[in-house]
Amino acid sequence: MSQAAEAAYRTITVKPQPSGFGAEIGGVDLAKPLPAGQLAEVKAAWARHSVLAFPDQPLSLHELEAFTLEIGPYGVDPFVAPMPGHPNVLEVRRDPNETLTPFGGAWHSDWSFQATPPAATILRSEVIPPVGGDTLFVDAAAAYEALDEATKAKLAPLKAVHSATRAYGPRSGYAKELDQRSMPIIVSADADKTFAHPLVRTHPVTGRKALFVSPVYTIGIEGMTPAEADPILAGLYKHMVQDRFIYRHKWRVGMVLMWDNRCTMHNAEGGYDGHLRVMHRTTVAGETPA
Ligand code: SIN
Repeated sequence: MSQAAEAAYRTITVKPQPSGFGAEIGGVDLAKPLPAGQLAEVKAAWARHSVLAFPDQPLSLHELEAFTLEIGPYGVDPFVAPMPGHPNVLEVRRDPNETLTPFGGAWHSDWSFQATPPAATILRSEVIPPVGGDTLFVDAAAAYEALDEATKAKLAPLKAVHSATRAYGPRSGYAKELDQRSMPIIVSADADKTFAHPLVRTHPVTGRKALFVSPVYTIGIEGMTPAEADPILAGLYKHMVQDRFIYRHKWRVGMVLMWDNRCTMHNAEGGYDGHLRVMHRTTVAGETPA
């Protein structure tokens, strides 16, 4: 969207990151139902910038739930027990004495191993450590567009195989560390199931193509041996995590962040051992990747 088009927002302010990937939104009160025109502008900004930050929105859990439902119906959150009384809210928590990698601390797109992975994740900050705790995002659409045409043609027919096995399966990292984590992670043989999605997916709203793979949840490429698939995936990850495709989100207390899992991957960076970090998270249902 051009600068002139940015100015076309009537009911919100939109301050894009210099790359255009990520934007800060003002002029809204997410604690109240958004008027239809304002909700449409928020959704338009989200389609344009993929990661929206709403500062100064110290929502209660009920308000977070209500805002989520304005964006769309809840997604299904497996493998982490929800908060008591809030079946669609996860508490993303790391206590000061924890030393393991943070929850979400490797590149992934949320629950991409599902048949219909969530379109959005919404995360609201409750307690922010004085150092570290940033969340990094990759612009997977820009990363796709930067590939040469021969590579795009090679990737076009491929389906990536997604699974939660590395994170939540009986032999996963989390399975070995459950007693050292404050979060109620659920390890299950269900996590070993696999689901194939187009390796390049088309965004249902913008029509942009994006790479839809991640080191946490992509375990192969359909019809290829690991020896064939692994170098392709490794090359894509190396390409995607270049600085030019990354937005580093710095948190403040009472901030709401909404990201689009269909065209991004993210990584909770850590770097705050000895400090508490508490966030509350919902997801919005998505569609079958195509
Ligand atoms: C997540 O992957 O949802 C966690 C992100 C974060 O805690 O910053």
